[in-house]
Amino acid sequence: MCGIVGYVGRQRAASILLEGLKRLEYRGYDSAGLAVLQPGGLALVKSVGRVAALSKLAAARKLTGTTGICHTRWATHGGVTEANAHPHLSSDGRIVLVHNGVIENYIAIKKFLLTKGYTFTSETDTEVLCNLIAYHYAKETAPAAAQAAGVNPQPSESSRFLTSVRKTLLHVEGTYGIAVLCTECPGEMVAARKGSPLILGVGDQENLIASDVSALVSRTQSVVYLKDGELVHLTAGGFALSTLDLADVSPVIDKVTWDVNDAEMGAHAHFMEKEIFEQPTALENAMRGRFSADGSSANFGGLNLTPADFRTIDRFVFTSCGTGWHACLVAEHLIERFARIPVEVDYASEFRYRNAPLDRDALFFVISQSGETIDTLAALREAKRKGYKCMAICNVVGSTIAREADGGIYQHAGPEIGVASTKAFTSQLLISAMFALYVARMRDLSFAEGIEYVNGLKAVPDLARRVLEQAPHIKEIASRYSKYNDFLFLGRLSLFPIALEGALKLKEISYIHAEGYPAAEMKHGPIALISPECPSVFFVPKGELFNKVISSMQEIKARKGLIIAIAPDCVELPEGLADDVITIPDCHEAALPVLATIPVQLLSYYIACARGCDVDKPRNLAKSVTVE
Ligand code: F6R
Repeated sequence: MCGIVGYVGRQRAASILLEGLKRLEYRGYDSAGLAVLQPGGLALVKSVGRVAALSKLAAARKLTGTTGICHTRWATHGGVTEANAHPHLSSDGRIVLVHNGVIENYIAIKKFLLTKGYTFTSETDTEVLCNLIAYHYAKETAPAAAQAAGVNPQPSESSRFLTSVRKTLLHVEGTYGIAVLCTECPGEMVAARKGSPLILGVGDQENLIASDVSALVSRTQSVVYLKDGELVHLTAGGFALSTLDLADVSPVIDKVTWDVNDAEMGAHAHFMEKEIFEQPTALENAMRGRFSADGSSANFGGLNLTPADFRTIDRFVFTSCGTGWHACLVAEHLIERFARIPVEVDYASEFRYRNAPLDRDALFFVISQSGETIDTLAALREAKRKGYKCMAICNVVGSTIAREADGGIYQHAGPEIGVASTKAFTSQLLISAMFALYVARMRDLSFAEGIEYVNGLKAVPDLARRVLEQAPHIKEIASRYSKYNDFLFLGRLSLFPIALEGALKLKEISYIHAEGYPAAEMKHGPIALISPECPSVFFVPKGELFNKVISSMQEIKARKGLIIAIAPDCVELPEGLADDVITIPDCHEAALPVLATIPVQLLSYYIACARGCDVDKPRNLAKSVTVE
């Protein structure tokens, strides 16, 4: 949430910053701003609305400076106004800052600063942070004053700047990823993080800072993932990393394995569409090199646990947020079904405060596309604090969750930019299915069943392609259903989480009220919603529950409800029962959630497009929720 970019180099900063900011817009898009240290002083440009609006304003200014910072905002403290947009400037005009996170003790600090004569023009916690740095900067002895007082060695403006940021951060409570400029230190920037992601991009005669690598990859693929409590001082020619308590840190420079083209929309209308259609490749990448040589099980190099360790585990606990939580529910179903090991699923935001009693030999898993979701990170830390080992299923390499987990599985789905998760979700489902197989083969799943399971998963990318071929048919259905304002999504067993996911996808991008329910629960309340104005999307299973689900559909039909059925191509639905049918290819049971998801992604996407919604940037949302 909120994206920041900073640049120090030899090129004009403004265009580089704006290009990076555009790539971070998925993190927040209610207002944006830019500050550049110019030869003639500081230039500050802010605008309510999208980065495009900011770019227009910036183009009208002559921004030649080579050091700058910028920000795209998702409001926490204070409404969406130009005054509340970042960067914030201290009231003495010396310090300018962008911030991602929340400063919890800002009221007390603000009161203190008011007594010292600092003034405020916004309602934000960030302006307080900015003025506190200015206060410490003013308090640090200026070089001229130090010379007059005979202080030796005299501090440079640069060390005075660095010290003031450090002293400020020692006083603040909360979370931050910040990039700070000082008008008296041209060509320098200080950045720091605690609880909000920040990545340093190491370039040739230029260095950058950003909330996400996607803002850096067009300039450099060499990055340093800052850790909580670290601070970096950047110039064009170099950088120095340290902790808040002054210990030097040797940087670990990582190479980003994807390039700028992976984060481009290409010929697609939206990132969400692109990412839906990238699923076959993302699914192939999730499986690559992860099946055992005998073809009957899965392998995960990064779990850092031996088969013997796994034998002692008597329960798994899966936590996540949003779509990731739906993936946890599928993991629960598959692990319990195939490996017969109990699984508990908790919302990360609840788990962290619930102080739930836990089994002695439980193994924790968190699932997070971004690896930065604050509640999921806190759940991981809580599990670790209690002495549990915690694994992570993450897409973003080097993310905080990936680094803090004891082991894990990278998704390799490539960058997911659309705010609504699509390819990351199906990749989480496939990895969960592989993990269920891995533990099942250590228990009772036979070699032959293992072979069948592996073959079933290997077929998924091609089967997903076949589902995607139905996009025109689904688009046509969407065009007829886009006028309705209430939907039910109904499924059973492993398809119940997919019903939840279908409802979430629809509501988040089209603002249609939608609810996901286990199909048989419908009679216990939700059936009251049924009318010709409230369509139901039914996930029809094959096998023993087929007739039960058909009965639920009959009950809807008897009440004149419209039905869209998503059904395997091997079953025959009673004539006239469903108003519309989307088929999915028959597949292995463990692959079913993946294939059943794709139609509801497409349905939601096309409905949102038909309603003229901003699919990639739905209102009030932002990807990567880094505030509580
Ligand atoms: C919905 C969606 C969110 C995320 C949730 C967790 O489409 O994307 O519900 O799933 O915010 O995000 P990650 O997986 O990054 O931790």
